[in-house]
Amino acid sequence: MSTDLEARAREILRANDRGGYTVPTSSGLYPAQWNWDSCLVALGFAQYDMNRAWQEVETLFSGQWRNGMVPSILFHGDDSTYFPNTAIWQCREQVPSSGITQPAVAATVVRYLAERTPDARERLGALLPKLLASHRWFHAARDPDGSGLVSIIHPWESGMDNSPVWDAALADVPPGPSVAHLRKDTGFAAAAVRPTGPEYDRYINLVVTFRDAGYDPEAVWRTAPLLVADIGFNAILQRANHDLLHLLRQAGDTDCAAEVAGMIDRADAALEARWSEPDGIYTSWNTKRGIPIEKPGIGCLLPLYADPQAASRHPALVERLRRWLGQVKYGVPSFEPGRPEFEPLRYWRGPVWLVVNWMLIDGLRRNGQPDLAQRILADSLELVGTHGFGEYFDPLTGNALGGPEFSWTAAMYLFLNSLKEDV
Ligand code: DGY
Repeated sequence: MSTDLEARAREILRANDRGGYTVPTSSGLYPAQWNWDSCLVALGFAQYDMNRAWQEVETLFSGQWRNGMVPSILFHGDDSTYFPNTAIWQCREQVPSSGITQPAVAATVVRYLAERTPDARERLGALLPKLLASHRWFHAARDPDGSGLVSIIHPWESGMDNSPVWDAALADVPPGPSVAHLRKDTGFAAAAVRPTGPEYDRYINLVVTFRDAGYDPEAVWRTAPLLVADIGFNAILQRANHDLLHLLRQAGDTDCAAEVAGMIDRADAALEARWSEPDGIYTSWNTKRGIPIEKPGIGCLLPLYADPQAASRHPALVERLRRWLGQVKYGVPSFEPGRPEFEPLRYWRGPVWLVVNWMLIDGLRRNGQPDLAQRILADSLELVGTHGFGEYFDPLTGNALGGPEFSWTAAMYLFLNSLKEDV
């Protein structure tokens, strides 16, 4: 029996369904298919319509680039309410898209779907080579020197666009001309909860740089004004590497499994090298400058999601999270509370996002920390129950922020409810 809220969540997914893919919100703020939104939305569909869940991921992979990259945005229809749209990106691929990627959650989601689908062979068989191609692309295009960590070239690739983690690296990017008059996002959500003007000018100048390089990975790597080995992004990829390895082994593909196992070994060592004992947290790395980034964004906690031994190796990491939770009404804030950069209303500078909550819940359980997982699960469900299906939430009051009736919040509500029973 589904509750009223679960029925409402399904209604939101239905309303945001554009036929084979969902838009993040019907408000006009994001009128296209977003990469990690779609994958995580599939976890919600999977609670009542497995076919539709697979379809969401399959539509995303229909826009995979010939070189293996899965773009952050696919523009399947009218994109006139979004900036930067196809007219700015100008990517010459079959499906109009952005020219950058997003966190690699697909293999993890596909594993979840496959394990709950009675005969997944055909659909999985079609997706597996595409998943592998995207992981190969990550390692070749974004870690050409074989460091073990991939670097991202745009804060948008992290999905955590305006996190303070990016402040210094973004300050190194020339602002280019002002795009204030072209922005559309602030017509749909209050400017106070969105990235700032100077950030947007740089976001767009980066896009123009990559477009001018013809999106050629080698040229982009050489000329990118920003290269960051973001710890959260790498942890998400590492988790996906493990899930891909599992799927390849099950499919009996020993050669490709060995290749992915090699990626995992290199990334394991490199991720561990980012543990900072004095700070008690993992730190990102400014690849362009060759210096660490000591800003505690929520991504710094995500090695818990990648590695079930992270907590026993580093109890300080769990203590750090506990301290964050002690300072807010609702966990988990996207940046460490109490720091000068912490802004409870502004996008990824403090608000709570349920998709990352899920990663931490899952990671904490696998790390033998069920009490903390339970706190985050309860907070997540209460946020929706009390404040609705917003894009993100104020960790101090719980108020819903950003776009309304959000697909991934609805999906996470359905999915997290299914996890209640697993405690
Ligand atoms: C946006 O437009 O805010 C997106 O996060 C970019 O992908």
